[in-house]
This record gives sequence, C-alpha cells and structure tokens, in this order.
Amino acid sequence: MTATRIDGKAFAASVREKVTAHVATLKADHGLIPGLAVVLVGEDPASQVYVRSKGKLTQEVGMKSVEHKLGAETQEADLLSLIDALNSDETIHGILVQLPLPKHLNEDLVINAIDPTKDVDGFHISNVGLLGTGQKSMVPCTPLGCLMMLRDHHGSLSGMNAVVVGRSNIVGKPMAQLLLGDSCTVTIAHSRTKELSDVVRRADIVVAAVGRPEMVVGDWIKPGATVIDVGINRIDAGVKEDGSPKTRLVGDVDFASASEVAGAITPVPGGVGPMTIACLLANTLTACCRVNGLPEPEGLTA
Ligand code: GUN
Repeated sequence: MTATRIDGKAFAASVREKVTAHVATLKADHGLIPGLAVVLVGEDPASQVYVRSKGKLTQEVGMKSVEHKLGAETQEADLLSLIDALNSDETIHGILVQLPLPKHLNEDLVINAIDPTKDVDGFHISNVGLLGTGQKSMVPCTPLGCLMMLRDHHGSLSGMNAVVVGRSNIVGKPMAQLLLGDSCTVTIAHSRTKELSDVVRRADIVVAAVGRPEMVVGDWIKPGATVIDVGINRIDAGVKEDGSPKTRLVGDVDFASASEVAGAITPVPGGVGPMTIACLLANTLTACCRVNGLPEPEGLTA
C-alpha cells in the first residue's frame, strides 16, 4: 500500500485564501484591518528567516505587519515595555514574540506579559488553561494546523485512537487536548515510553513531534493509519562536489518505510511546516474578530 500524500503546502495556500477573503470583508464592511506584531530579539539566523517569511505572508493576506527587531543584549524591562505598548495598541490584534529568546530573558515571564486575547501563539498560561478545560482560547499554530489537516482528511475524528509522540508545551500537549476535543481516544507517548513501537502500532492517527530524525518507522505503523509528521530535522547527507558538508531536511518519521504502510502521511518538507504560518494568520484574524465582537471565520478555528 502506498499512502496518500497530504499536501500541506497546498492546504496552507487554501487557508491563506480563506483568510484573505475574510480580511477583505472586514475591511469593506467594518473598516477593520487585522494587525500582527512580531518581536525578534537577537540575531538567530533561523528566527530571522521565519520572521521575514511571516511578515511577507501577513502582508499578502491584506493584514498590517509590524516587526520589532531588538538587539541580543535587550534588557527584560525594555522588552516588557514594548509588549505593554503593543497590548494597548488598537491596530495590533496579534503579538508573537519569536522563541527562543536569548538566555538572560525569562521566556515564561515575557509570554505571560502578552494580552491573552492577542496571544496568537496560544502560549499564554490563560490560553493553555482555557484549551485544557475546553473553553474558547487562542490555540497554538502547529497543532491547529495538524487538526485542520486531519479534519479535512477524515471529516469526523470521533472515536479514533490517536497517539501523539512528544510532550512539548508547543506541540505535543496542545495537540493531545485538541484531539480529545474532537473525541479521539488520546495517548501521549514520548522518547521514554516503554514499548513505544507497540503503542504507536495501536494508533489510527499518529502525530510525531518528538524531535528525533526518522524515529517512527513503517514497522510501527498500523496499516491504513494517518501519520502527521511535525518534525523538522537537518541531518548530514554526505559531502558536496566541492567537499563542503551536505544536509537534508527530514521529519520524525521515516517517510519511505511509513508511506508503504500508512493510509495517509504528511511529507517533510511541504507538510505541517507551511500550515504553522497559515494558522498564525488565521489566529490573528480570529483575534481581530473576537475583540470587535464579530463572528469568527468558519473552518479556521478549533
Ligand atoms: N520559534 C519557532 N517556532 C515558533 C512559533 O511557532 N512561535 C514562536 N513564538 N516562536 C517560534
């Protein structure tokens, strides 16, 4: 059996199209333009690439995009003052502080200083609590993207056995809450889980978010299961002709063997990755609608 490939790149483009259409309506009917502020502290090259790409796509869907780039030596008090100003700015509906922050800054303190209604990452402790108790919240972008792809592929997820491999606050835990909210029977497994392969083999849905390159192999997958690969790992791939090292991007799933057994699978790259930014835009739109007491966009929330 060869699995259906779930095309995250195309799906993300369709999410952005829906966001674009809704943003145009907000502007025409209410004179509202959703605004997203991204704060980057320091010069981490990967973060700079992410932030540039977020800014470009934010503008493409018709939203206001603001970037604040602060030096690596920025003091916590100065970062908190900026967050305060963004919290009070009525033209800004979403605030994202790019992680990781430099070591001298307390990430929890900084994230929890963001107005929870503008916390488009869904990392604020209030949003974590709201999601955990099944109340309306801002939902972390990567798990929201995974949920959208699963709903699109299956329709109802009710009663399915879902195994989430990975227990991070950003992906694993919120993913489990979302699957529970859609009436799956959910197991959170991780790198220390005993007989991990047997646990994964029971799953109708596998979400791999453990951060270990190609750890989940075909032999672990129940025939016909749906596999969502959240991993983004850069691994050695020999040397180039000029002798410099070559690298390759792989997920937490061994795509070649897993796609022989699974019913559907997301590739890396081109699977979950593009959905994260699309969901960030969806969350910014949702935040703008909520704060203005307007109906939320359909199909773009949990
Ligand atoms: N760094 C890498 N991914 C993310 C993300 O989704 N949100 C934030 N704030 N920082 C990140």
